[in-house]
Amino acid sequence: MSEHTGAYPRIRPRRNRRGPAIRDLVRESAVTPGDFILPVFVHDEGGGPQEIASLPGVMRHSLGSVIEAAQEAWELGIPAIAPFPKVADGKKTIDGREAWNDDGLMPQIIRGVKQVCPDMLVIPDVALDPFSSLGQDGIVEDGVILNEATIDALVKQSLCQARAGADLVAPSDMMDGRIGRIREALDEAGFDQVGILAYSAKYASCFYGPFRDALDSAPRGGADKKTYQMDPANTDEALHEVALDLAEGADMVMVKPGLPYLDVLWRVKQHFKRPTAVYQVSGEYAMLKAASMNGWLDERSAVLEALLAFKRAGADAILTYYAADAARWLREG
Ligand code: PBG
Repeated sequence: MSEHTGAYPRIRPRRNRRGPAIRDLVRESAVTPGDFILPVFVHDEGGGPQEIASLPGVMRHSLGSVIEAAQEAWELGIPAIAPFPKVADGKKTIDGREAWNDDGLMPQIIRGVKQVCPDMLVIPDVALDPFSSLGQDGIVEDGVILNEATIDALVKQSLCQARAGADLVAPSDMMDGRIGRIREALDEAGFDQVGILAYSAKYASCFYGPFRDALDSAPRGGADKKTYQMDPANTDEALHEVALDLAEGADMVMVKPGLPYLDVLWRVKQHFKRPTAVYQVSGEYAMLKAASMNGWLDERSAVLEALLAFKRAGADAILTYYAADAARWLREG
């Protein structure tokens, strides 16, 4: 016998669902354009934006078109943009040194966006994979990612991004101890107002496939990403990673991917109650897009439902390739 026996017919949950007004009144979560961070891919090959086969509707921008995209997003109420550079193969090396070239693609993107949208938050990715000839997030030696040497490189990359005007830096590499070292280096260089959005619980996921197509950054040997990204089977470990990043000075933490890891997002938010972002990754976008293109899902409803799920699970910020579309849909009401 349930404890509710006898409650009905006095208690009728459907009363709170009987029309749009009462549903508005009792709704617990909402998603708004102000929650979004728009990830963008940018190439340096000259010419205009390029299509990405496994991400229909997402562009590999040119320096010119990414600035337009930023402005459009800002006007839609999206407060932040997260650029990812696609550099030519000729600029990729074992040590990824192009990552801290002050005249490189990323600093140009940051300066370009800040010039046109000075108040928009620019949150560049900190990791070596777009610059690594092996597609690895760190420096490889004898099949091992060297933690210390990689942190030294990530510190140089973060300082380079801060000099270009980044508002927050977002280390997505999963090296141990990098948040503390980056925080210390930023402070020493006078960038105490530059924040850190830490990819804290980043899993070794197959859902990153289309992203690696976009940047041509698929691992080409050297090491296994499972030696730094987390095992999809673990959630206690996510709390450990988040605790460390917060202790080292992260301003916001992130769980990635999104929908398949809602339990992790929920636990992180419940446990720490700190600003928490979630990344609806490229594979999640591709699934929603493919089903929508086949007429199997209503795109707008499916996307807004998935984004709402992130808010319900505790996300404060959502990185999504759907940011501009979703902002438009939300505006239309
Ligand atoms: C790498 C990085 C990846 C993503 C963001 N930063 C891929 C990877 O770790 O191999 C994936 C994002 C996505 O799939 O949308 N530093």
